[in-house]
Amino acid sequence: MMRPEYHFTPPQNFLNDPNGLVFYDDEYHQFYQHNPIGDVWGHMSWGHAVSRDLVHWEHLPVALYEEDGMMIFSGSAVVDWHNTSGFGNDNHPPLIAIYTGHSETEQTQNIAYTLDRGRTWIKYEGNPVLSIGAREFRDPKVFWHEPTQRWIMVTALPDQYQVRFDSSSDLKHWTHLSDFGPAGAIDGLWECPDLFQPQIENQTEQIKWVLKVDVLKGTGAQYFIGNFDGTRFINDATDDQILRVDYGNDFYAAQSWSDVPNERRIWIGWLNNWHYANLIPTSPWRGLLSIPRELHLRGYPEGLRLIQKPIEELKELRQSLYHVTDTDIATVNSQLAKLKMDISAEIQVEFTLGRARKFEINICTGDAEETVIGYDAQVQEIFLDRRHSGESAFSDKFAGVHRALLVSAEGKINLHIFVDSCSVEVFANDGLIVISDLIFPTLGNAGLRFYVLGGRVRLRTLKIWRLAGEA
Ligand code: FRU
Repeated sequence: MMRPEYHFTPPQNFLNDPNGLVFYDDEYHQFYQHNPIGDVWGHMSWGHAVSRDLVHWEHLPVALYEEDGMMIFSGSAVVDWHNTSGFGNDNHPPLIAIYTGHSETEQTQNIAYTLDRGRTWIKYEGNPVLSIGAREFRDPKVFWHEPTQRWIMVTALPDQYQVRFDSSSDLKHWTHLSDFGPAGAIDGLWECPDLFQPQIENQTEQIKWVLKVDVLKGTGAQYFIGNFDGTRFINDATDDQILRVDYGNDFYAAQSWSDVPNERRIWIGWLNNWHYANLIPTSPWRGLLSIPRELHLRGYPEGLRLIQKPIEELKELRQSLYHVTDTDIATVNSQLAKLKMDISAEIQVEFTLGRARKFEINICTGDAEETVIGYDAQVQEIFLDRRHSGESAFSDKFAGVHRALLVSAEGKINLHIFVDSCSVEVFANDGLIVISDLIFPTLGNAGLRFYVLGGRVRLRTLKIWRLAGEA
């Protein structure tokens, strides 16, 4: 398996969740759950990389190592601008990492700081900063709450299906505020919460909060929309409503960057699933992150929904391969057959379904392989079928079809697809529905063709780029 071109992978060994995402001094920091000495989960530490554009990454040494039987589980990082922690000074604010210390008997919240732009980290001698005597209590996400002038820590109480909120004035002493849940999907342990205020498209006055939490080996990432008053989160919907972040199998543990300029809210997730995370056939690295996605809310008759869009910066990587407008599928297919497609590509297609019953894009095709991205008009579902996508025998949980309801006005559909060696991310109808899935096609299988059942479909536009990373 070739290393992805433009998706983040560790130089070697195991990677899971993104951690400690913070922007400071013109650099995006990205830490990640990492086994520094093996290619399966274990010895969890924080790997580290930095970037100026979220697209090109420079690998740095491991930032926080497992120590004295305590692994460094997931967490976040903030810039302590007012030096509330006292670790730095006002001219030189410290970056603070807030992470879960995992031992056999307990999970606690701990902090570490750096005064040299994240290059060296010092664990606080007063750790842990928050301990409730629980075996399952993890993944702190911390942010500064401007109206109440204090830090808020959001953590998961996984086996209670709850998110817990604490506050602090100095990041060292924490006071319990409230708990949220159980609500939504509870078909697995809750992990990796995040809480933020995305901008609402075409609106400036209204403020809404999104609370995201992942459901282990179940629904995956889900979110709630509501209000956070500095003490508690109030869900706008009834607690039985389930809103999914991604309809594929492989988008998990997403976290948003802290302190990004211009109020942008950007997150990145781990493209994997705990059902087979230790088994995917890649080497010498195992695990990759998604493309960074910019987040908004958009109003629909049924309410606000989370919108995810590939970040603009990815356009830097484009090399044009093919572009047509208003063309029928037979013509496009015959032209595509002659095109040298690349396994690292971006595809944008807009079409109107008309009377067709099914529309399919087959990607990564070879003699006996294909990954199908399609729309089934009879049930109004978009789907990704990876049953014949390539290697899948490493887990009986892998092969399958993943679907999402997509009701589309006048049959108009647009798809924005990112393929990169072993992953597919499909953004449908301007980021309303996302399907992220791993695939392991045989090397060289990069074909692309369209297929329509029961009607004629003209492509209003089709654009294909090769995306040239630096892998
Ligand atoms: C999520 C998770 C977190 C935990 C970390 C351990 O994928 O299980 O809850 O902190 O991974 O690596």
